[in-house]
Amino acid sequence: MSQDLINTADILVQAGRPDKIEGRHVNMPVELGSTMVFDTLGAFEAARDARYESGTLYYGRYGNSATTKLEQAIARLEGADAVTLTSSGVAAITTSLMTFTKPGAHVLVADHVYGNTRTFCDGLLTRQGVEISYFDPLIGSGITDLIRPNTVAIMFEAPGSGTFEVPDIPAIAMAAKAAGVVTILDNTWSTPLFCQPLSLGVDVVVYSGSKYLSGHSDCMLGVTATTLKHHMAIRQTIMQIGDKTGGQEIMLALRGLRTLKVRMEYFDRVGREMAQWFLERPEVKTILHPAFETCPGHANWKRDFSGAASLFSVILKPCDTIRMRAFVNALHHFGIGVSWGGYESLVLPVEPVRTATAWEEEGHLIRFNIGMEDPESLKADLAQAMQHLSS
Ligand SMILES: Cc1ncc(COP(=O)(O)O)c(C=O)c1O
Repeated sequence: MSQDLINTADILVQAGRPDKIEGRHVNMPVELGSTMVFDTLGAFEAARDARYESGTLYYGRYGNSATTKLEQAIARLEGADAVTLTSSGVAAITTSLMTFTKPGAHVLVADHVYGNTRTFCDGLLTRQGVEISYFDPLIGSGITDLIRPNTVAIMFEAPGSGTFEVPDIPAIAMAAKAAGVVTILDNTWSTPLFCQPLSLGVDVVVYSGSKYLSGHSDCMLGVTATTLKHHMAIRQTIMQIGDKTGGQEIMLALRGLRTLKVRMEYFDRVGREMAQWFLERPEVKTILHPAFETCPGHANWKRDFSGAASLFSVILKPCDTIRMRAFVNALHHFGIGVSWGGYESLVLPVEPVRTATAWEEEGHLIRFNIGMEDPESLKADLAQAMQHLSS
């Protein structure tokens, strides 16, 4: 890749491609393998000593040429010094948290985080003697009052992927820096195209690459993107734990990157159109979509983000659970399932788990992932299913 690429569209098309040799393929091949062999003991020892360094070829678990290509491409997009891939988004979150914690340490976690982040914090991290406390995601610089002498990390998400509050990223990052605390932000919703948290002061950005980055619901992948200061510590955790990204997944993610910009621009436009449609429906109490004023933290989104993904939630006017379930079951275009960020529409009722502040909204909360079906077909499908809410 030419070193002077600064335009996102050019990076998406040209980064992570094969090195220049005549007669090369356009794309990196799928690289599969465990053992790598060397011609001399000296070369083997040099590779072994440098096995944690990005780009070293030593053994399959530490990555190969295709791994390095994808890591470098994402680092360019993210404005990160370095990227290390993981086998899933959860692995990116858990290995980042493990890197900075030890028994007796304290971690502050936003109350709206992805369910498995919470499960890991309340489960394995707590069992390892780490203290966890949850904070209101809209706390902003007030986080300073919650930082204790033993606080080592703040884990948050922008926006929360069920309830969509948008935290004040720079305020939290600044307070953390002043106290010497590491910030870890899950940026899966925005992708590096709509928000670059490292430029807002965050130390470690994590992604589920299973979602928009790969973009076709056919791949499990995680990403950690960091400044140089934290890169090696996280990379060593990932490699010492034995986490590894598969060759097929790397190929699928590289392919997904090529269309990320057009997909995100489409999702931004159509997601807002569908959110507006919901807002005007009599069955709907409100919508939680960061680009709308009804979403808590909307002003933060306006200041720090350049677009909106097509995952958002709708709060229905209060109705009994039987009606809500009949509505969801009557949808034809929306699959019922976890995850998001693919080309297909999805629906999922969400029950927020809160311990820092109570979730007081009345009415069922339903999350929608707007896919690439015709928006008019989606509206017609929703309208017919909504009859179950009022009949
Ligand atoms: C916000 C968020 N972060 C991380 C993850 C975990 O990613 P993965 O499914 O790739 O492990 C998810 C999965 O749904 C998510 O919604």
